[in-house]
Amino acid sequence: MQKYLITGGAGFIGSNFIRYMLSKSDDITIINLDKLTYAGNLDNLKDIESDDRYRFVKGDICDSGLVNSLMKDVSVVVNFAAESHVDRSIGTPDEFIQTDIFGCFILLEAARKYGIERFMQISTDEVYGSIDNGLFKETDALMPSSPYSASKAGADRLVYSYYITYQMPVVIPRSSNNFGPYQYPEKLISLFITNALDKISLPVYGDGKNVRDWLYVQDNCEALDCILHHGKDGEVYNVGAGNEKDNLEITQLIIDATGNTENLITFVEDRKGHDRRYALDVSKIRSLGWEPRHDFHSALNETVDWYRDNRWWWEKLKSGEYLEYYRHHYKRDL
Ligand code: NAD
Ligand code: TYD
Repeated sequence: MQKYLITGGAGFIGSNFIRYMLSKSDDITIINLDKLTYAGNLDNLKDIESDDRYRFVKGDICDSGLVNSLMKDVSVVVNFAAESHVDRSIGTPDEFIQTDIFGCFILLEAARKYGIERFMQISTDEVYGSIDNGLFKETDALMPSSPYSASKAGADRLVYSYYITYQMPVVIPRSSNNFGPYQYPEKLISLFITNALDKISLPVYGDGKNVRDWLYVQDNCEALDCILHHGKDGEVYNVGAGNEKDNLEITQLIIDATGNTENLITFVEDRKGHDRRYALDVSKIRSLGWEPRHDFHSALNETVDWYRDNRWWWEKLKSGEYLEYYRHHYKRDL
């Protein structure tokens, strides 16, 4: 029986990962520790909340007492918990340092005390910074450029130090930009799909030529599972599907899939320190046997369909506090 502590499991990728792991194996129990910040949402896990193998605990990964009490009963830790939005990290970096770095340290200390068998730290391709040409390898230097990516880089290397110093069996996936169901509507694809469905403008930063390598969340979950079970201790694994697209291409695809026109596009002031391009060499995880199973265009269309069919999930998120934050932070209405 594998006993998991999954942190941040009420967020976008964490909730998809919990659903995936429960569907894959009977021989598993999962405790989901999540603080339920603005991005954490129990609606993401409604369909599995009464599963006997699953337990939700509301709490903070920075709470050492709570973390230790949960760590006693588990053998595997997967740390998704983080503040995850670059724009918010530019406005208010405090929580990023606290959760993404200090929270990770609290988990590591408890994992060390209880002799955890596997500690998977969910890192990101953003730790490398921007690359104009070519692909980042796992051994390349980390040059993060936002408070978000810098805090993720700090945690990434802190986890590695526990492998070198204490021989903790850690693995560190660095995935590229995910998209799919249950993504809080503040990231490019989830924001633009939900705006487009409501015929609200799509705010493209700068010239719209920034490039990301888009990864369907289901493919990412399979990659994380593969790394968890087949990754070597102390190793980093890039995860990407090779779907390099600039933001205007993504915007056009969403406009087409929702039956809108280019009139919906508004060019707005660029993000501060905006990384131009992310791109990964994924030969290392490919050698573990993983490859993405979803075609990008089909997965994007399915994602549009999901948001079209699940207004109950996102409409209530885009009201009240969300609109206030949007107005205050971006100095414009939605
Ligand atoms: P998300 O913002 O949707 O979810 C984060 C979750 O963490 C939320 O449920 C939130 O309530 C929880 N959380 C935040 N602070 C916490 C704390 N102190 N204690 C306990 N729980 C806390 O994020 P996501 O997009 O699902 O990303 C999950 C992880 O994957 C993050 O570590 C992120 O850096 C990493 N990642 C994301 C992407 C992406 O494209 N979304 C790509 C690569 C890596
Ligand atoms: P985002 O989804 O925030 O992911 P990240 O910055 O972590 O890669 O943004 C993806 C790209 O889309 C990035 O180049 C910024 C751009 N973007 C916009 O142009 N407009 C928006 O409203 C958002 C949220 C992002």
